[in-house]
Amino acid sequence: MVPRVSTLGGYIFEYQKSVTNPTGFWAHVADSFFWRKKWDNLLNWDFEKAEIKWFEGAKLNITENIFERHQFYRANQKAIIWEPNDPSEATRELTYQQLFDEVKRFSNALLKAGVKKGEVVGIYLPMVPELVVAMLACARIGAIHSIVFAGFSAQSLSDRLIDAGASLLITADGGFRGNKITPLKAIADEAMDNCNCVKTAVVLKRTGETIQMKAGRDIWWDDFVAGVSTDHEAELMDAEDPLFVLYTSGSTGKPKGLVHTVAGFMVFTAYTFRNVFQYGDGDVYFCSADIGWVTGHSYLVYGPLLNGATSLMFEGIPTFPDAGRYWEIIDKHQVNQFYTAPTAIRSLMAMGMEWLDGKRLKSLKVLGTVGEPINEEAWHWYHDHIGKNRCPVVDTWWQTETGGIMISPLAGITPTKPSYATMPLMGIQPVIVDQDGKELTGNSVEGNLCIKYPWPGIARTIWGDHERFRQTYFSTYKNMYFSGDGVKRDEDGYYRILGRVDDVINVSGHRLGSAEIENAINEHPLISESAVVGFPHDIKGQGIYAYVVCTNFSTGGEEGIRQSVLLTVSKIIGSFAKPDKIQLVSGLPKTRSGKIMRRILRKIAEGNTSDFGDTTTLLDPEVVEEIVQGKI
Ligand code: WT7
Repeated sequence: MVPRVSTLGGYIFEYQKSVTNPTGFWAHVADSFFWRKKWDNLLNWDFEKAEIKWFEGAKLNITENIFERHQFYRANQKAIIWEPNDPSEATRELTYQQLFDEVKRFSNALLKAGVKKGEVVGIYLPMVPELVVAMLACARIGAIHSIVFAGFSAQSLSDRLIDAGASLLITADGGFRGNKITPLKAIADEAMDNCNCVKTAVVLKRTGETIQMKAGRDIWWDDFVAGVSTDHEAELMDAEDPLFVLYTSGSTGKPKGLVHTVAGFMVFTAYTFRNVFQYGDGDVYFCSADIGWVTGHSYLVYGPLLNGATSLMFEGIPTFPDAGRYWEIIDKHQVNQFYTAPTAIRSLMAMGMEWLDGKRLKSLKVLGTVGEPINEEAWHWYHDHIGKNRCPVVDTWWQTETGGIMISPLAGITPTKPSYATMPLMGIQPVIVDQDGKELTGNSVEGNLCIKYPWPGIARTIWGDHERFRQTYFSTYKNMYFSGDGVKRDEDGYYRILGRVDDVINVSGHRLGSAEIENAINEHPLISESAVVGFPHDIKGQGIYAYVVCTNFSTGGEEGIRQSVLLTVSKIIGSFAKPDKIQLVSGLPKTRSGKIMRRILRKIAEGNTSDFGDTTTLLDPEVVEEIVQGKI
């Protein structure tokens, strides 16, 4: 088993060790895994060049560490409990043996279809166990999975498939979400028409609606695996071979395909899962995230399964059929650890207490949150009403880029403070720097959050663009990884994440780039220019405020334009990226050199209509006046 600390003294001791002797520390953690060949060189790094290598020379397969490693004693233990969208449909359970067989069968089917080690396989599936089967089968044969969240539009899907060069796509006829059906295959068809890299599409039947199957390209999942053997020997992988590509938004235009590699990701997610959640044998763990985001990758699938855990996977949404659904699932499956996002907590809190009536929630031991800062009110509600004052809340800070949790309490061990991610995990060396890159030492300081030493789970590159990787994360501050988040270290040395300091907007825990939304809006034929900023939103954390410069109101008037802008954003990105507020303006505040003054737009979006600071560089102050008037 992966080593686990169980006392505060243990944490302090291990943390010290991990900082004074990082390689010795990680070598010890890594010893608990199953390697076909051990590493020659534990760590090789150069932040200047953004080159990081862990466990070089080692050979392994991550799925052997999930299946073969646990085989003797876990074969009949539940690996996945699946709760369907519609509570009247039957729950599905897969033991480690059953999941293993499905993974091996699908591995053989992929090989039969000609998928080779190192090739990218796109996955666009709803939250069903086959999604786990598909991703683990890729890992088993050495193909690189690139999962696209099933809420993304056809255009976003095709952009990602093209960028990654996916040769095969695994999708479904449709997906259930609440009382809606997402026509996944129809969306995937449109995406595949726009890219010529995908040669084969494997289609899972989920909703049963009528879809088009293109001869020579599309094949049903059941036919794809029919008659295929469940004997499969895992491909031998190098430690630094890519495991997956996952796209995320940055402050500039195009989403970035972050690449995670086999061994480092394995060691880091397994270790952090076990220590943060204090998972113990027999526990049932429920992460409500979608596998289309990194939380699902690291803490629904890999981290838990590497620990031989029972991971509960939920297909639906927290408010269907009613706002008591999560609590009902927790009671039904006797969930011990529950991991969700602040936005879900806030929206359920707003629905009122009656949804907790009759819910016992007695099985719960640990509550986790992730994705955005959690406000004190939501923290207390979660702690008092869900955890009944007896479950520690672990507020876990991390990012797609970090692969796993970086700053977080260890459940029941680290004393918590509402809205604080508290202390760094073992091996993580956070530093706070000011605008000039000067490290702020000591307590009671605030600045930008950087990490000064590598950890095994850090992303290694951006797919096809290493220079962008270096520029984005390693060029702002010398010899440090820059997270893009602001942070405060309080008088006790506790960390509190303050939110993004760049143009990334965090909407309901979904990460979106301002530029990405602006580019989508600008596709609208009547919009010449736009500026998008975030503003505080009670439920979503941040909302999206779009200022759009519209040249022609002829069709449908102002409201018509607003509606069609929303439609454009849904079509180009997905409906989760739709602005909450759209203000039509005749121009944007710019500096003499043509840069949009977002600072002013942010202030206005926050409801602040004066006090714009230094506006001497502003080209046209009347524009600001007009926007303020329009706002009031
Ligand atoms: C951004 C990363 C990590 C999985 C989900 C999001 C914000 C994440 C916290 C937290 C405050 C948080 C940061 C970060 N964030 N966790 N506990 N407290 N903020 O992954 O989509 O890559 O987004 O989410 O701003 O940079 P992601």
